Amino acid sequence: MRIEFPGRTVVVLGAARGIGSAIVAEFLAAGAAVWACDIAAAALDALDPRVERRAVDVTDESAVAAFIRAAEARTGAVDVLVHVAGGVRGKPRQPIEDVSTRDWLDIYEANVMGAVNAVRAAVPGMKRAKSGRIVIIASPAGMNVSLTGIQSYASAKAAQLGLMRQLAHELGQFGIGVNAVAPGFMPTSPDYERQWAGYGEAGQKALIERNPMRRLGRPEEIAYAVMFLASPYAGFINGQVLPVTGGPTV
Ligand SMILES: NC(=O)c1ccc[n+]([C@@H]2O[C@H](COP(=O)([O-])OP(=O)(O)OC[C@H]3O[C@@H](n4cnc5c(N)ncnc54)[C@H](O)[C@@H]3O)[C@@H](O)[C@H]2O)c1
Repeated sequence: MRIEFPGRTVVVLGAARGIGSAIVAEFLAAGAAVWACDIAAAALDALDPRVERRAVDVTDESAVAAFIRAAEARTGAVDVLVHVAGGVRGKPRQPIEDVSTRDWLDIYEANVMGAVNAVRAAVPGMKRAKSGRIVIIASPAGMNVSLTGIQSYASAKAAQLGLMRQLAHELGQFGIGVNAVAPGFMPTSPDYERQWAGYGEAGQKALIERNPMRRLGRPEEIAYAVMFLASPYAGFINGQVLPVTGGPTV
């Protein structure tokens, strides 16, 4: 089985660092034309020069639509859409009674409305092409309690899964598959590095020992799962969430 994407256009939202930048790098290595966006404009400079990059806030519906239109205009159609943007948006863990509505919505809007904006913009072209693959980077936080302790994050990640299943049901008839990948914890960005440091040495050791594989995952391992779900080998997989976590924990 060889997974390659020559002549395919892949759009990655939330691509500047961590999991997003690994997804960009692996699709590029597999021959895709990659379009990447992020709110962290300066960090996009570090991506491979072959990547088309734009500073886009995924909560800005018209900016997302313009980004997708640009990718479609240059290459014909978006074949693969990967929504990575979101995370915890720099928010701290707090008791529920102290969480402000603004903090709550910052997380929800990037993770959930960002995905809605991207899908809404890309689906008409995918329908015209009668094919497309959409992958949302969700989290075990949306399937169980969140290690972050951030209520809005757990809610947003669960909402992504509801969205993914509903879209899969709606769009399958047009040849469009919609799935999610749920990565295990990895200290890939300032927010997750802070969380990791907060565990201390003993907490870090305990987290690793609880994992059946006795290690943390690597960003490229998330990319490989995304690439499988975006490939023809996953052509009849629709509406599913693939945990990439090293296995179940007690
Ligand atoms: N690292 C982990 O442990 C882990 C585990 C499970 C799921 N995830 C999910 O994986 C995804 C990527 O996480 P990560 O670990 O690479 O770090 P991250 O959470 O920092 O990455 C999020 C990316 O999205 C971008 N982003 C945030 N808000 C945006 C907006 N409004 N518009 C455009 N871009 C925006 C950020 O700049 C960043 O590049 C996130 O959705 C996160 O929830 C991460």
